[in-house]
Amino acid sequence: MTRRILVTSALPYANGHIHLGHLVEYIQTDIWVRFQKLRGNTCTYVCADDTHGTAIMIRARQEGRPETAVIADMSAAHLRDFAGFDVAFDNYGSTHSDSNRAVCHEIWGALRQAGLIVEQEVTQLYDPSAQTFLADRFVKGTCPNCQAPDQYGDSCDKCGSTYSPTDLINPVSTLSGATPEIRTAKHLFVQIERLHEFLTEWTQSGKHLQEEVANYLKGHFLGKPLRDWDVSRPAPYFGFEIPDSPGDYWYVWFDAPIGYIGSTADWCAARGERWEDWWKNPDVEIHHFIGKDITYFHTLFWPAMLKTAGINLPERVHIHGFLTVDGEKMSKSKGTFVMASTYLKHLDPAALRYYYASKLGNGLDDLDLNLEEFVAKVNSDLVGKVVNLASRTAKFVEATGLSAEYPDDGGLFAQAAAEADAIAAAYEACEFSAAMRQIMALADQANRYVEDHAPWTLKKDPERAAELQQVCTVSLNLFRQIVIYLAPVQPRLAAQAAKLLNCPLDGWEDVRRPLVGTPVSKFEHLMKRVDPAQVQAMIEEGQPAVSAPETTAEAAPAAQYQDGPEALANEPLVEAHCTIDDFVKVDLRVARVLEAKHVEGADKLLQLTLSLGGDVRRNVFAGIKSAYAPEALVGKLVILCANLAPRKMRFGVSEGMVLAAGAGGKEIYVLEPDDGAKPGMRVH
Ligand code: MSP
Ligand code: ZN
Repeated sequence: MTRRILVTSALPYANGHIHLGHLVEYIQTDIWVRFQKLRGNTCTYVCADDTHGTAIMIRARQEGRPETAVIADMSAAHLRDFAGFDVAFDNYGSTHSDSNRAVCHEIWGALRQAGLIVEQEVTQLYDPSAQTFLADRFVKGTCPNCQAPDQYGDSCDKCGSTYSPTDLINPVSTLSGATPEIRTAKHLFVQIERLHEFLTEWTQSGKHLQEEVANYLKGHFLGKPLRDWDVSRPAPYFGFEIPDSPGDYWYVWFDAPIGYIGSTADWCAARGERWEDWWKNPDVEIHHFIGKDITYFHTLFWPAMLKTAGINLPERVHIHGFLTVDGEKMSKSKGTFVMASTYLKHLDPAALRYYYASKLGNGLDDLDLNLEEFVAKVNSDLVGKVVNLASRTAKFVEATGLSAEYPDDGGLFAQAAAEADAIAAAYEACEFSAAMRQIMALADQANRYVEDHAPWTLKKDPERAAELQQVCTVSLNLFRQIVIYLAPVQPRLAAQAAKLLNCPLDGWEDVRRPLVGTPVSKFEHLMKRVDPAQVQAMIEEGQPAVSAPETTAEAAPAAQYQDGPEALANEPLVEAHCTIDDFVKVDLRVARVLEAKHVEGADKLLQLTLSLGGDVRRNVFAGIKSAYAPEALVGKLVILCANLAPRKMRFGVSEGMVLAAGAGGKEIYVLEPDDGAKPGMRVH
């Protein structure tokens, strides 16, 4: 019977880029999802960006643009990174969505109705300059215990003590540098203690959590009354306002897990289904994949919310450990804090997918990316054992195709097929490293077969052509079996093998039936060896620049540019000189496009709202409509002539001019400063 499975990965924060640590989780989940799909189960994989909270609000202020612009950019970047690693979500949403808001309302209503919400006064540090309450990580000061300076608001790095930020000596807001005040505000709390008995039963049942997680919860939380959970934040806060408590917003960790449902709702809406068909249907299994740092949100608060709202509880929460690189925490100064996009510039995503699979088990141990081992393992296993099977045999059967009948192979194929259940069980249990070991043992056997039958020798003797075809038929079938077993980890290799052997490779059970009589396509290169120099280049790129000139990319030889003379012919250079005094009269500034819209009745103009940082805004009518859609401009940095005399137009006053090159019409190119420029900077 096929299962119906809904799978999630934790929602990445929208205030940072995806790095190799995150990818442990998204690759792990994607492998598990692809495995389920290959097995013929109905499996849906949803995720979203986690967008709310103080950090995004502050970043948006610093960048002088709305939060929605910040999170839109980050969502696009996350999607690019995930696609680059073949992480294939069925839906990728956002917690800042109508669907999520609707489910938040529903769950909140249920918590209210159950009488679980209480009000309490909370005393917190408040930044009078930034006008916001300060989360612990936005306060620094001297440790009240050991007097170490420059410690965060909740704990001391030096002596390890934990405290309340109001106990810090000489506290300073890291947002503005101001001295915070102590202020009191009303917060809303969920009394999860009232679900204590249920949570004990659910976490300790042995079904839903790894044993070490169950024990941790029992030892740290369940042995005493559970503390009320603070789920509101007073304005200003970027999030959803609580419907029955105006001026209060749900704390980001309230609406973040609900985002799993919101994203499912978006996916369902697009297919004419309802999210309740998944989340309130007893036939659906829900599986969450998360890192160990967010265990208690997913194993105490979240089950309590779901239970109260009458929504299915997860069948299983799969928790993994953290990534280390060469045995140490990822580090910016060592260059081991590698962004997904940096990796992709230098290396093949398939290599990381295989390496992580070969290291991942079902436990919470940290996973080490040992860079030397990474190169060795990928080269010896994927290239040396798997790809080699095809590259050494496919070319000999390009002309003939596979034999019409499967030859006697001494039982090799049947033996490998008999491993199907054991390998499947390893995938199912998230014991990917065990699965990889079993698969590589099969690859070793297959390679021995090729060595023993030396097709390259048979090739030299025209009388042994039939034998050559048989040997290659066996080798390619063993290759195909291995590629099916590996398909959840190596989807690209699976697609390439399907093309080579002219037969789709889309079901787990295909490992049991040899392929015969099909044509073999011309062999195309499947995978390159990893060169340690590529790894080195990636690490160097992640390292902070020592001195700028050394690290800039080598300039391309000038001969590679073949620019024609047309632009100058159209608009010849201006002969008359201008003095530096003339030039400095023009106040050119970097500005951010906050809003761009069409102007009714104007066929050439777009109306732009530009930010020069802080609260300084300019309204500009720019004649660029023929070349730009308004949405393409939002968030962009442009150059503004800021002291051009304001001009009254039919539609309003234009307060400056955005610089652009080109002849007009479709040929308009708005000037953009290089990365790192900030709104308000003057152009000299
Ligand atoms: N936004 C929250 C999750 C909300 S889920 C309702 C969050 N985001 S995160 O971007 O910090 O992390 C996303 C996931 O990546 C988490 O499961 C986290 O454990 C995992 N990892 C982040 N850094 C990691 C490593 N260095 N190593 C392994 N996993 C890591 O937490
Ligand atoms: Zn201390």
